[in-house]
Amino acid sequence: MNFEIELKEKVGEAERVIASYMPKEKGLQKTVIDAMDYTMSAGGKRIRPVIMKAVYDLFGGTDQIIEPFMAAIEMIHTYSLIHDDLPALDNDDYRRGRKTAHIVYGEAMAILAGDSLLNYAYEAAASSFSLVPASTEADDVNSLKKELSTRINLEKAMQILARNPGIYGMIGGQVADVELTGKKLNPEQLTYIYENKTGALIEAAMTIGAVLAGADTSGIEKIEKIAYNVGMAFQIQDDILDETATFEELGKPIHSDEKNAKVTYVTLYGIEQSEKEVQRLSEEAITILEAIEGDSSFLVELITYLIHRKN
Ligand code: IPE
Ligand code: IPE
Ligand code: MG
Ligand code: MG
Ligand code: MG
Repeated sequence: MNFEIELKEKVGEAERVIASYMPKEKGLQKTVIDAMDYTMSAGGKRIRPVIMKAVYDLFGGTDQIIEPFMAAIEMIHTYSLIHDDLPALDNDDYRRGRKTAHIVYGEAMAILAGDSLLNYAYEAAASSFSLVPASTEADDVNSLKKELSTRINLEKAMQILARNPGIYGMIGGQVADVELTGKKLNPEQLTYIYENKTGALIEAAMTIGAVLAGADTSGIEKIEKIAYNVGMAFQIQDDILDETATFEELGKPIHSDEKNAKVTYVTLYGIEQSEKEVQRLSEEAITILEAIEGDSSFLVELITYLIHRKN
């Protein structure tokens, strides 16, 4: 199948899954649920749930248990964007082609909508346990073993979902990004920021896909390396687009990094060197990916597509 069509289908599938896990009932908390929906439904690229599912497929996963995690990772990512755009952080007025949540709903509701998405992500992910059919005494040993290994994989997935967005992951990267704004960064500090603020959620997406499909340790280690490269390349490309894309293409303000006096890969090394690094990191990821048994063609094309993405 043509890659663009396949990607569109997989994004559509991710959209349906995400929508099915969003809150339905609205009481006095209606405003915050509207603010959550507003940014979630604005339509991002949905790279994280799509890549999670693609890794799950690669390792032969076939169950519905991946779905609550697809929704959860997109909720956590979207919360990180709502908070990243706040006046106290990057102070940006547009996101996903719309006015940012804090412009439309006010700062208090934007903070609470971010908090709510973070919390609701874990509510969604925890619901995966009730998708596992509980064995009864009448079942044979094999089905008992299958239930146990599924529950152990879910436990590992929950641990990744708890750790990577936190202080030893995404938040850690955001803290360094904020505190070092306007300062001269060395390459180690820049790498720390990228591998955490952006890499940690991409790594969570990919490793959760692998873990839930029952990948072995060697498979999971390969996925971690691939995710590191994809995450770094993704953030460098984001920095490049901040300089080279148009507002219409991005749906978020251009030159946001310059406005905030951020040191980025682009300010340190220039556009050309940055493009080369995105290419190098992606090619290395593809080489590792091709060493994994199974059909990795969609993932290879996805990583290649991300090198040349325009938004
Ligand atoms: C933006 O992420 C923030 C970064 C980590 C660079 P995306 O580029 O995935 O944003 P959406 O989800 O498509 O809006
Ligand atoms: C993204 O960094 C990191 C997170 C949102 C966690 P940026 O600040 O560069 O992301 P954009 O450019 O606003 O999407
Ligand atoms: Mg930022
Ligand atoms: Mg930002
Ligand atoms: Mg950026």
